Amino acid sequence: MSDRHILTAVAWPYANGPRHIGHVSGFGVPSDVFSRYHRMAGDRVLMVSGTDEHGTPITVAADAEGVTPREIADRNNRVIVGDLQSLGLSYDLFTRTTTANHAAISQEIFLGLLKNGYVFPRTTLGAISPSTGRTLPDRYIEGTCPICGYDGARGDQCDNCGNQLDPVDLINPRSRINGETPKFVEEEHYFLDLPAFTRSLGDWLDSRKGWRPNVLNFAKNLLTDLKPRSYTRDIDWGVPVPLDGWRDRPDKRIYVWFDAVVGYLSASIEWARRSGDDDAWRQWWQTPDADAYYFMGKDNIVFHAEIWPAQLLGYNGEGDKGGTAGSLGRLNLPTEVVSSEFLTMEGRKFSSSRQVVIYVRDFLARYDADALRYFIAAAGPESQDTDFTWAEFLRRNNDELVAGWGNLVNRTVSMAAKNVGAVPTPGELTDADRALLSATQGAFGPVGELLSRNRQKAAATEAMRVVGEANKYLSDQAPWKLKEDPARRDTVLHTALQAVSDCNTLLTPFLPHSAQKVHELLGGTGVWSPAPRIEEVTDLDDGSPYPIITGDHGDGQAVWASRPLPPGTPLSPPTPVFKKLDESIVEEELRRLEGDQ
Ligand code: MF3
Ligand code: ZN
Repeated sequence: MSDRHILTAVAWPYANGPRHIGHVSGFGVPSDVFSRYHRMAGDRVLMVSGTDEHGTPITVAADAEGVTPREIADRNNRVIVGDLQSLGLSYDLFTRTTTANHAAISQEIFLGLLKNGYVFPRTTLGAISPSTGRTLPDRYIEGTCPICGYDGARGDQCDNCGNQLDPVDLINPRSRINGETPKFVEEEHYFLDLPAFTRSLGDWLDSRKGWRPNVLNFAKNLLTDLKPRSYTRDIDWGVPVPLDGWRDRPDKRIYVWFDAVVGYLSASIEWARRSGDDDAWRQWWQTPDADAYYFMGKDNIVFHAEIWPAQLLGYNGEGDKGGTAGSLGRLNLPTEVVSSEFLTMEGRKFSSSRQVVIYVRDFLARYDADALRYFIAAAGPESQDTDFTWAEFLRRNNDELVAGWGNLVNRTVSMAAKNVGAVPTPGELTDADRALLSATQGAFGPVGELLSRNRQKAAATEAMRVVGEANKYLSDQAPWKLKEDPARRDTVLHTALQAVSDCNTLLTPFLPHSAQKVHELLGGTGVWSPAPRIEEVTDLDDGSPYPIITGDHGDGQAVWASRPLPPGTPLSPPTPVFKKLDESIVEEELRRLEGDQ
């Protein structure tokens, strides 16, 4: 047992609509596989996130429906909480950015930055719509990118070259809402002085080890052109700016991204307060050897490898201009920004408006959570853009989960149940028996090492290779032909059952729901792989009640090691763990995608 503290910081999904499988392939499943593995390895994991509920994504959705931002946020928060819990994502706390605690911590970070001189006021040009007089959010302005010339660049970012933009810099700017040319007017705002982190961010990035090369290169490249970025926005939905003359203004708020990233810290503090030890968060944020891994899709790298580290450095007084730590004390920077690439859907970009989408909820209404988790871990966009196809989903499910792993479990447990009614007592082992057991036991080292480095595809492949060896062993040893030699049959069955148990442990981070079932098929009782639960809670500081995801994730019996199966444990005939899917679902789903059911 180690006592390493690991913060799993999971990107906060926008509460502007339900999330689709592209989203959960970026932040969701990878962060959960990682957390479950580390808990099994004896580490102290704190996994936090919540819904990202401020800013224009929410106000635009609210305007489109003619309801308040609060209604949009409340409704989608509930949907997202339900979906992520159904996927088995083992958050210690999944909360939201509209809590009073979150506002207070976001304001504290702002004030700490201001105190150290990393935030300053400045008058700038902001876009308004000439026809309505209202502020035009950056992402609702489009035009030609001044850096790469791409014509569909948004006011905040160019999706072609990935650079951060300012709407005034766009060539031929136009409103995405009605096509009109925005008018730029003078507005007062606070800015984060990013150039004042050039050296400190550079030193930090230079000291990072083991990052995916594309993520590190992207992050380092950002340093070549750091410009101050607006910390505040002209919007009425968000965290108020905690300064006299600003606090009560209805039209000025902290920029949504600058409050959202603070969520990792505020959620950790909320978790501690709910746990009954207000300071418990400090072990993950302030002990020098604690680690923090941040999980997201690649469109979030800027905010996790540049903006949030700069906010932390500035708050700590560790930017290029120095300073002193704020009242919370010094806060740890990310150990690694673990970013995945994009998932496409049958060759096309996910798009809710064009119906190129499958929402998590709809997916889970028709298929098991572990089938989706397995696809994402084994075939997801870990380090390159990847296409989700229904044909490949069917193949992975039927060939690998059902015919490979499920069949091994089923054959082994049913033969032992039928012939012995319990885990048999083994006799002397042959070379073949020993070879299989050393393959399964020998896999914990390499698979664990791959999981700790977030090489989840390779880890899943290696675990499934061992499953393949166990299947081959069973076919070679053919215990069903050993009626005349029950002692040898029992040895083979015991060896195979032990291999099933080991494989189940190796697959537990990927397949927590089926791992619990296999644990029970092997005669185990109690909780093997804990499931997250939803709790309705009151706000700690007089805000409105809300649902959270939480759980007793450290309480599972699953430990990252081979565990000897005690002979004599009663076994019953198994029920299948995985569902074989009919080929017809491919056509059916493709028709659904075309929108004609
Ligand atoms: N809501 C953002 C998105 O979906 C992610 C925010 S991550 C955070 O892309 F940490 F900043 F909250
Ligand atoms: Zn560009």
